[in-house]
Amino acid sequence: MTAEHSHQALDDQTRRLVGALRGRVLEIGAGYGENFDILPGDIDYIGLEPNPKRLDELAYEAERNGHPTPPLAAQAENIPLPDASVDAVLGTMVLCSVRDTERVLAEVARVLKPGGSYVFVEHVGAPRGSWRRAAQRIAAPFMRLAAGGCDPVRDTESRIRASQLEVTEMEHYDLPGALGVSVPFVAGVVTKPREQ
Ligand SMILES: C[S@@+](CC[C@H](N)C(=O)[O-])C[C@H]1O[C@@H](n2cnc3c(N)ncnc32)[C@H](O)[C@@H]1O
Repeated sequence: MTAEHSHQALDDQTRRLVGALRGRVLEIGAGYGENFDILPGDIDYIGLEPNPKRLDELAYEAERNGHPTPPLAAQAENIPLPDASVDAVLGTMVLCSVRDTERVLAEVARVLKPGGSYVFVEHVGAPRGSWRRAAQRIAAPFMRLAAGGCDPVRDTESRIRASQLEVTEMEHYDLPGALGVSVPFVAGVVTKPREQ
């Protein structure tokens, strides 16, 4: 993993959640493989990434980290895996970029085994009416262009809470952002109910 492609947007709690993943783990929007430095080495890892430029490096990094399964070239709105086929799903800084958050969450729920968990880390919109949200709104058009469709004011937490997945852990924290404006994050674990 190169320093260029590792990231710091994870607090200690989130590193703990990612480090606790076990079994067959699907990572959506896996990028260049930024999370290999904190993922356990003994999981059965499968990455998913729609951007062909990132996919090649993800495949290289996955293999280098002992995960030979080729990554899925797909969007998380249509995960090419059977129902109830993975123990856990991981996604860091992905729901800000997808076309249809609700559909991604439904797909995550579909591929998870009952009792399986979705571990997420997402930057989110600052509280309505705050100056930070106004700054995010000003930055939004530039971020959409510069950061591959990223929406800085998306209300991701309410969409996760409204999904079929049950909240097990949810935490909020801020990290330093551009021009001295801190960025709010939400991170946690939601679980697929054992009986639906
Ligand atoms: C900000 S990057 C985050 C990459 C990595 N997860 C990380 O934490 O650094 C967002 C990633 O989501 C991917 N992405 C965009 N739209 C997607 C979609 N519909 N389904 C899955 N991944 C998507 C992008 O190609 C990109 O790799």
